[in-house]
Amino acid sequence: MSLRFPRRTFVRSIFAAGAVASFPAVSWARVAGANERLRIASVGTGGKGWSDLTGVAASQYVDVAALCNIDSSEKHLGQAAVKYPDAKQYSDWRKVLDDAGSFNAVLVSTPDHMHAPIGLAAMQLGKHVFCQKPLTHTVHEARQMALAAAKYKVVTQMGNQIQSHEAYRTAVAIVHAGLIGKVKAVHSWQGGKPRWPRDIERPAGSDPVPSNVANWDQWLGVAPERPYKAEIYHPFNWRGWRDFGTGQLGDFGCHILDPVFKALKLTSPTKVEADAPKIKPETWTTWATVRYQFPKTEYTAGDSLPLTWYDGEGVTAPREAFKDIPESVKLPGAGSVLVGEKGSLVVPHVALPTLFPADKFSSVEVPKVAGVDHYVQFADACRGMGDTTSHFGYAGPLTETVMLGTIGVRLPGESLTWDAEALRVTNNEAAQAMVSKPYRKGWEPSWV
Ligand SMILES: NC(=O)c1ccc[n+]([C@@H]2O[C@H](COP(=O)([O-])OP(=O)(O)OC[C@H]3O[C@@H](n4cnc5c(N)ncnc54)[C@H](O)[C@@H]3O)[C@@H](O)[C@H]2O)c1
Repeated sequence: MSLRFPRRTFVRSIFAAGAVASFPAVSWARVAGANERLRIASVGTGGKGWSDLTGVAASQYVDVAALCNIDSSEKHLGQAAVKYPDAKQYSDWRKVLDDAGSFNAVLVSTPDHMHAPIGLAAMQLGKHVFCQKPLTHTVHEARQMALAAAKYKVVTQMGNQIQSHEAYRTAVAIVHAGLIGKVKAVHSWQGGKPRWPRDIERPAGSDPVPSNVANWDQWLGVAPERPYKAEIYHPFNWRGWRDFGTGQLGDFGCHILDPVFKALKLTSPTKVEADAPKIKPETWTTWATVRYQFPKTEYTAGDSLPLTWYDGEGVTAPREAFKDIPESVKLPGAGSVLVGEKGSLVVPHVALPTLFPADKFSSVEVPKVAGVDHYVQFADACRGMGDTTSHFGYAGPLTETVMLGTIGVRLPGESLTWDAEALRVTNNEAAQAMVSKPYRKGWEPSWV
């Protein structure tokens, strides 16, 4: 497969110190303007798309122009069509983009494998884009989304809405206030049991495509053809299948690692290595541990920062990693611990963070930061009011990191060395091949 990887100079500018933070600057000619209304098109109006749509449309300055779903049933297109009766209805997102004059922004809430194809095409038309997490399905796509946002100077926001919750904002403020000192290590985990299938083989045969699903081919999109099987992929269960989803790390990494990235100003790891069971040909594993090394930042101690991710039913990080936290303290089912030179911070997913040793911090004034509305923040930024905090200049590198971890899960035991600027795993060709993927003929995205 031949891929046009981005020019090195352009990429270098993304990773230059401070450049990531400056990404949201948009061309003011493109933003709608504070007194104008924003017109949105929603692609994938069911599942999480329902809260994306109603969340952005909650702004009194937003009109819903277009609704797109491959499934016309009540939970998917139906309820959105009832709530927004003036919006045009579509089953094919390419037809939505053909009608580009009728909206300024696109919400992408489809399964992961279609985020980049739809998001890139929308940005190439100069549309602002709100896209669900993880931003993309591959590392290469994440780079492309960041490059496109910069090139087309559009407003962007990834849908990791918990970033805007007071819990995560407070965790970032505590680290920036220096309460735990420079951070020596991070442990992050998701110990919940996913409700979607993992570690299974593809079921035999096919089922008739139900009449409410307009077009199974549309749902497959860029992914290789496969027959429809009821309740196996659409809706929701696609997460466990590698052609469509990104496993437990992909599902939660862009949430749980987000306050760590924000607090420590991380960009790209230099090394990734995973422990995981042998992976089945098409699905994700039931557990994984991924060890990253990041270059030092102003908020980390030492020459590099070790960050370890754990997923699997009931897992947390090993207790011996936390000498500041007594065994009697129950760790959250999902979250992170940042181990600093002056103390440790437990950041649950999602609750206010806690400082340890508890007695050391009992009389310390701890900053508390109010939450903001992640969706309305996007709508406002499109109208020229303020910036988004999970713009693709930030969400791209975060998603690259998460997707690199998923490559590690596919190649357990391999120590992978990552050159972010070149977008290359420098020591493992099998891993490098997983930085991108083949696309179905006729569905190849148009790269930046
Ligand atoms: N931010 C969060 O907290 C959060 C929570 C859940 C899901 N998500 C993300 O939201 C996305 C959707 O997840 P979900 O659980 O809602 O999945 P889902 O399968 O339940 O819903 C996806 C919706 O998109 C529609 N759809 C699928 N392909 C389409 C296409 N090509 N064109 C138009 N519509 C299409 C489906 O019919 C369905 O209505 C995923 O990327 C997921 O990771 C984020």
